[in-house]
Amino acid sequence: MGNNKTTLNKIIYTTLILLLGFFGGYKIFSPKSTIATMPVKNTLFRNVSGNDSISSLTKEFTGKILEVKDGDLIMDAVKKAKPGDLIRVYPGTYSETVYVDKDDITFQGIIENGNWPTLDGKKELNDAFLYSGNGIQIEGFKIIKYKGNGIMGQAGNNFVIRNNWVIDTGVYGIFPQYGKNGLIEYNVLSEIEDAAIYVGMCDNIDVLHNEVFDNVAGIEIENSRHCLVENNSAYNNTGGILAFITPGLPIKTTYDVIIRNNFIRDNNHKNFGAPGSIVSGIPAGTGILVMAADDVIIENNIISGNKNVGIVITDFENGGAKASNDPESDPNPDNIVILDNLMVNNGYDPIDEVKAAMLTKLTTKGPDIFAIGKGTGSTILNRDKYVTFGLNDFGEPKITDTRDVKSLLLDRPAESRNISKKRLGEYTYFGVCSGCHAYDIRLIGLPVNVIQMIYKDNPEGIIKYMNKPKNLREDYPEMPPQDYLSEDAKIAVAEYMLTLTK
Ligand code: HEC
Repeated sequence: MGNNKTTLNKIIYTTLILLLGFFGGYKIFSPKSTIATMPVKNTLFRNVSGNDSISSLTKEFTGKILEVKDGDLIMDAVKKAKPGDLIRVYPGTYSETVYVDKDDITFQGIIENGNWPTLDGKKELNDAFLYSGNGIQIEGFKIIKYKGNGIMGQAGNNFVIRNNWVIDTGVYGIFPQYGKNGLIEYNVLSEIEDAAIYVGMCDNIDVLHNEVFDNVAGIEIENSRHCLVENNSAYNNTGGILAFITPGLPIKTTYDVIIRNNFIRDNNHKNFGAPGSIVSGIPAGTGILVMAADDVIIENNIISGNKNVGIVITDFENGGAKASNDPESDPNPDNIVILDNLMVNNGYDPIDEVKAAMLTKLTTKGPDIFAIGKGTGSTILNRDKYVTFGLNDFGEPKITDTRDVKSLLLDRPAESRNISKKRLGEYTYFGVCSGCHAYDIRLIGLPVNVIQMIYKDNPEGIIKYMNKPKNLREDYPEMPPQDYLSEDAKIAVAEYMLTLTK
């Protein structure tokens, strides 16, 4: 009897372990491949994040399925696709740029036996996916070796970018620019020269459950509002998670950002950003950086092993953006709220400026939290838990947590952008060029006021250059051709660029 019981116990025990192994051992941060085996209907627009409020991105599938197999071009399917269609891509290697300017197209990579549909730019192509349509969904792709971007949105709203694996795609990994209402989740990104996930000039974006490592910047919220950055893992980047304003862009503010429940550890990678780019100035060892952004809440993150500083809060002046004279961007970080976070072992090898500041506190170690420059209304909970510098004017926060905020996506889909001919230049400039060009400071590309001097009264010259750029300056990279734009868009954007005043 006794023996049988132990056997039975053993069986139950082993079954439990197996079950636990099966459900519990699922790696939170690896791209999920469950879509590979499930029928479309149940999974395509399912709500992976378990987040009720993403209903504004959930829709019924009504279109056709277009299949793409190894040896085909994804772009051929895009040409045939109509709004509502699904483009299903099977494992294989696809060396192309997929450019979509239609609405409601879904790209679904099928992963079979660990084989991904792989977009390989071979370090010759600039971008893997470029979309300017609304309602674009991209999931299940491995994207490697491009020179510009893995996935770039150019003024497309209501997007979902999920379960992709992006390695060494040049300047940016996943880069929605000037988009509203979008979800970026369960992606893994590494070896990106600038920001792995770059939310630029966007509104209402959730960035959830991504893993970013070995990049210059892990996750960057720039000139964007209403963004939730949650449950991500950022490690071994130069800087982990950043929320800031770049002056000289058409959208002038960053506010209402929640950075919550992330692992931000050991972001000590040597900075390999392009010389002159904004991120090339980030000191290695930066966990979180807030520059000039307002209403940023930092809550319940684990921030450890970042050798310079755990959290840096700075104004333009001290953050290296002094070149700007953009009067429309407030240079100061206001109303930053630091709630409970777990911070250990940060600042063990700080940069000289931080060291010098800390000497006034009789230590040469960097702090967990370092605030420098102007800004008002900021608060911190339980400040005595951390080593801090510059937080004397931080008060007590009015809140202790943000649990009521489940998502910062919209309740209903954002309206499609109705791009009139009159505003085509503006949209194209916002959606495409301002990823690299700002009015009077250097980003990846030349300042626009310098371009205006070269091309005064010569929009045709700009179009020529966009179609076939040449590398003209030793200290700049080559500009990727913008020849995929429509002729109307090219003329409009060239003229728009020449009339810009700020
Ligand atoms: C991925 C980054 C990137 C994007 C996007 C980009 N540019 Fe550029 N652009 C550059 C870089 C880098 C240079 C400087 C290249 C050099 O000097 O070799 C440049 C230079 C230029 C120049 C100056 C050429 C000259 O004669 O000196 C013009 C004009 C220009 N870009 C127009 C545009 C327009 C219009 C757009 C949008 C449709 C655009 N660019 C989008 C990176 C970019």
